[in-house]
Amino acid sequence: MTITELKLINFRNYSKLKIEFNPKMNIFVGDNAKGKTNIIEALYICAIGKSFRTTNHLEMIKDDKDEAYTKIEVIRNNRKVDIEILLGKRKEIKINKNIVKNKGEFLGNLNVVIFAPEDLKIIKEGPVERRNFIDNEISQIYPRYYYIWKQYNKILMQRNKAIKINSKKRENIEIWDEQLLNTGTLLIAYRKKFIKKLNLITKPIHRRITDEKENIEIIYSSSVQLEEKNETKQIYENYKIQLKNSWKEEKRGFTVIGPHRDDLIFNINEKNVKKYGSQGQQRTTVLSLKLAEIKLIKEEIEEYPVLLLDDVMSELDKKRQNHLLENLEGIQTFITTTTIDSLNKKQEKNNKIFYISEDISKEYEK
Ligand SMILES: Nc1ncnc2c1ncn2[C@@H]1O[C@H](COP(=O)(O)OP(=O)(O)OP(=O)(O)O)[C@@H](O)[C@H]1O
Ligand SMILES: [Mg+2]
Repeated sequence: MTITELKLINFRNYSKLKIEFNPKMNIFVGDNAKGKTNIIEALYICAIGKSFRTTNHLEMIKDDKDEAYTKIEVIRNNRKVDIEILLGKRKEIKINKNIVKNKGEFLGNLNVVIFAPEDLKIIKEGPVERRNFIDNEISQIYPRYYYIWKQYNKILMQRNKAIKINSKKRENIEIWDEQLLNTGTLLIAYRKKFIKKLNLITKPIHRRITDEKENIEIIYSSSVQLEEKNETKQIYENYKIQLKNSWKEEKRGFTVIGPHRDDLIFNINEKNVKKYGSQGQQRTTVLSLKLAEIKLIKEEIEEYPVLLLDDVMSELDKKRQNHLLENLEGIQTFITTTTIDSLNKKQEKNNKIFYISEDISKEYEK
């Protein structure tokens, strides 16, 4: 799939902007703080519905304005899709001019894989980042997952509320258990399956990038005890028993077992990358993960996603840069950089370069 055009009104530092993109490589060149990442952010929000930099959409509205508008045109399966987002007091999303009522309907219109400095958080920070990663990835491939995830979180909130009010008797909260178990089991099953596929794809990629020196493994570490054979029924049964047994802990006010407590572990040569990996190994792990995601999306939906690369070139060594750039055949790519020299000259004929400077209310290209 490709993005053919972007329009912005009062988005971040842009009053008005309209750019047409190249189906292959699009390069945004400019000094710091000129608005390169802002363009990547606008593309991302049109795909995922939220920013990768902030949870407060008001931050994206230009200073002193009340509303921001982004629009992209996407070609997928040879059909044109218009995605519009209006950010104001509320967020309004339109697909082909029709208002989208829930996010499940919206996801899957444009698949993106982003690789930005923020992604190191997946390795370095707490489980929330890793759960976000896995939830976002599965949701954009299988929108059904997003519906279940939303349901689960609603039930979880209600159940936690019930615990707080009725922490003396477990019977009072049992009405939530069945729904919690049903949706939670599905989430775990989806995630297990996804991680299994991701592992298969990530392993050879990571070996290649590291000259066959490193073996990577991604482990789904669940609060629910999972068996080797991983049938949904088995997950449900184990989960049910553990949920019952956790009442003593739950009495403190929240549900302690379930997918909202799960995590991912990344190992290289059987050592945890978060704890023992060098900075470079952590970056390479994310790179392998992102390249694997591209392949996985292609396998699942039969089209390549769009790739957004924000500021990553300066963070990778030459070998890894080349590895990345050489694997982009057939993938529309958006890339930001402060110097054009850092990019592979070989691909020059496929590039469209946008120079981002102070006054970019019209298109800049070469
Ligand atoms: N809501 C907003 N209204 C107006 N300007 C904003 C808003 N949010 C951010 N900016 C401006 O956008 C600019 C930063 O843009 P961006 O993050 O895209 O820079 P960049 O070109 O990616 O820089 P770097 O190379 O440092 O990553 C800053 O000048 C900032 O003040
Ligand atoms: Mg930037």
